[in-house]
Amino acid sequence: MQKAKINIAIDGYSSCGKGTLARYLATQLGYQFIDSGAMYRAVTYYALLKKCHPENEAEVLSLLDQIDLSFEKNQATDRFDIVLNGENIEGKIRNLEVAKWVSPVARISGVRSFLVKQQQSIAAQKGVVMDGRDIGTVVLADAELKIFMTARPEIRAQRRLKELVDSGMEVTFEAVLQNLNERDLIDSTRADSPLLLTEAYHLLDNSDLSVAEQNTLAMTWVKEALQKLPG
Ligand code: DC
Repeated sequence: MQKAKINIAIDGYSSCGKGTLARYLATQLGYQFIDSGAMYRAVTYYALLKKCHPENEAEVLSLLDQIDLSFEKNQATDRFDIVLNGENIEGKIRNLEVAKWVSPVARISGVRSFLVKQQQSIAAQKGVVMDGRDIGTVVLADAELKIFMTARPEIRAQRRLKELVDSGMEVTFEAVLQNLNERDLIDSTRADSPLLLTEAYHLLDNSDLSVAEQNTLAMTWVKEALQKLPG
């Protein structure tokens, strides 16, 4: 008999390693990892491509029916890349230009409902680890395990800076830190589905934790959640 599966929601501030943890848990459990932020980044990328101002709600909304999103396995990296209208755009959505406009786009309710519907349908069969901002509160409100991640802003900016520089981009620490602070503010104060720490979450501050320590801690929560399953 197949083992029962749970859904795992990982929310938290920008660049605190949600993707790293989500990917680890998904691999350990044989679950599917969904990076919901990549979907908001893809919509933002498309709006910029179409020369539409990301703060012009009506224009952004008019583009949605031209957008088809999916994920595909990248054999080289073993990760799931985001695909927009048949094109793998994973390498085009992690730059500071998209990062600058993604929170204004993610504030638009029509964009959120468009993406939330797709996220919920992917997770309907269980066995999904999804990371984002509203996963435990809205998208997978019934997830069996919810983790809220945070770390000190300077530490997060340093980690993100390294990632960007390693991938060949020219950016400064100050620009990265400013972008993180701006996104965190918009993401946690917007009217629709703000980032919100509730009692349902396990809080994980990884400022002073190694990746291995963080993974071990999260796995203890996973085991507890699996033990609570009926049967
Ligand atoms: O996880 P990320 O940094 O790639 O997400 C990019 C932006 O997308 C983030 O600043 C806010 C938005 N987002 C959101 O509003 N809801 C989600 N579930 C995921 C991301």
